[in-house]
Amino acid sequence: MCGIVGALTDRPVAPLMLDALRRLEYRGYDSAGLATIVDGALQRRRAAGKLSELEGVLAAEPLPGTSGVGHTRWATHGPPTVDNAHPHVAGRVAVVHNGIIENHAELKAELKAEGVVFTSDTDTEVVAHLLDRAIRAGQTPQAAMAALMPRLAGAFAFVVLVAGEDDLLLAARRASPLALGIGDGECFVGSDAVALAPLTRRIVYLEDGDWAVVRRAGVQVFRDAGVPVERPEQVSTVSAAMVGKGNYRHFMEKEIHEQPEAIAHTLHAVLDPGTGAATIPSPLDADHVPKITIVAAGTSYYAGLAARYWLESLAGIATEVELASEFRDRDAVLPPGGVAIAVSQSGESLDTLMAIRRAKALGQKTLAIVNVPESTIARESDGVLLTRAGPEFGVASTKATTAQLTAFCALAIALGRKHGRLSEERASALRIALTGLPGRVGEVLRQEHEGQFMRIAHDLARARDVLYLGRGLSYPIALEGALKLKEITYVHAEGYAAGEMKHGPIALIDEHMPVVIVAPTDGWFEKTASNVAEVRARGGRVILLTDAAGAERLRESNDHVIVLPTVDPVVAPILYTVPVQLLAYYAAVEKGTDADQPRNLAKSVTVE
Ligand code: AGP
Repeated sequence: MCGIVGALTDRPVAPLMLDALRRLEYRGYDSAGLATIVDGALQRRRAAGKLSELEGVLAAEPLPGTSGVGHTRWATHGPPTVDNAHPHVAGRVAVVHNGIIENHAELKAELKAEGVVFTSDTDTEVVAHLLDRAIRAGQTPQAAMAALMPRLAGAFAFVVLVAGEDDLLLAARRASPLALGIGDGECFVGSDAVALAPLTRRIVYLEDGDWAVVRRAGVQVFRDAGVPVERPEQVSTVSAAMVGKGNYRHFMEKEIHEQPEAIAHTLHAVLDPGTGAATIPSPLDADHVPKITIVAAGTSYYAGLAARYWLESLAGIATEVELASEFRDRDAVLPPGGVAIAVSQSGESLDTLMAIRRAKALGQKTLAIVNVPESTIARESDGVLLTRAGPEFGVASTKATTAQLTAFCALAIALGRKHGRLSEERASALRIALTGLPGRVGEVLRQEHEGQFMRIAHDLARARDVLYLGRGLSYPIALEGALKLKEITYVHAEGYAAGEMKHGPIALIDEHMPVVIVAPTDGWFEKTASNVAEVRARGGRVILLTDAAGAERLRESNDHVIVLPTVDPVVAPILYTVPVQLLAYYAAVEKGTDADQPRNLAKSVTVE
């Protein structure tokens, strides 16, 4: 997934676009570039590597101009070299692109047969050549765009700049996000409203299949081969202040510490903890829901695994959790009237988008639990439940995860009451437990615990392999802890159901193997205690996440034991997610890896 930006202004556009790309770097950062129009001609600066490399190029060779396009890349076609960095230029046309032009090979062959010479390995370059060919044949840029759109297949968003047209940008979106920003005598295009936040909060979101003619005075939106359509101008809720790191070292650290607020805000989106009044989003508010199918990827999938426990035990609704990338092509057998829930921080993960489309084709109603309003998955679902974590920039999801867990737990309580599976007394106790969570998370985040987390993280950072174990509601948190560690420190880690160890993985354990065990004193605790003994018997180095009672019961002298506040076992997974995030974060800091922009990753994967 890449970050794209365009701007038509009355001031130097390069610094403004560079700043916007900084806010989009979480979407991809293996190369970057800008192009502007100077005296009617295109000028371009590109660099491999992070945005800081491009900044160096611009410092050495400034880029004038007040109209431009910019790009920060997560490579799909072609390695992250300068030649493959966007913008791609053909004749009078410069293009920045996010996504995939699926039929690029066929288009490339057509162009090569006419003698076109390609200078990159990317799919993007075909767009530049096709538009340039049409404009050289006498078509206006707008007419060339209208003719191009029906010829492209795939999931993409792109922005075009044309030499000699310094009051024109052409923008198109199909399954990849793109927002237009309306300023005062200036207009902007960006992958999301966050990129545009300091420039304007007046946003026009393009729908799938839309393309737009952007000028300083305003925008015109079209569909397909040029049918004009109206799209409403909205006021973005993202403020400029929300997009900084504050006094934290990384966005990830900041976002870990924003979790009390994210949990509290999200809880209120579903439950009024005082009155117990619940807002159950459609289509879950139906009188009968025969089955819930949760589709998600990565960390969001783990949140779904925890949700299954809640939805079955509290609400009595049959629930399956599916990896989106597997579900999307499967002939799943689902009951009519079932509900598919897409869980996605970005609301743009293509696997999850395709899975929710598949669920619709299988006769399911759909609900999106997302953190980005107006995201593609939200727009394509029958109902939307917004987690209120605020913009999340760290590639490793943190506050969005605990917000997702909070939303699911609150929903399960509300559904349990609606369907008479949960007594008001028990529901009230659980609402109180949820209401108390922000405070409990705040206790875990207190400075006084940092030293212990750093000491344990020191071991993890040096390990070759790490195991994370958990049972029941703690099993998804074990999976999440392993993912967090490997994705930001590159240390190999695996999450396992604790009961599964004896069926093979226990062979891995020796004195070199740290084993993180998630063990609140819940219904699974006694069995987990046996697994801890099995690990110790083989010399494994136990790192125990538990509460006071659990520490009392299990602590042994060689263990690391993180004692967490005692909470109702039902809400424990939300609390226990925070220490596994902290362990990974401090291990990344210890290793010197980039916690915000780990290698090979992007914040939202909009390719298949
Ligand atoms: C989260 O730490 C990971 N970076 C990744 O697994 C992520 O959860 C996954 O790509 C799904 O993203 P989404 O929630 O935006 O759909």
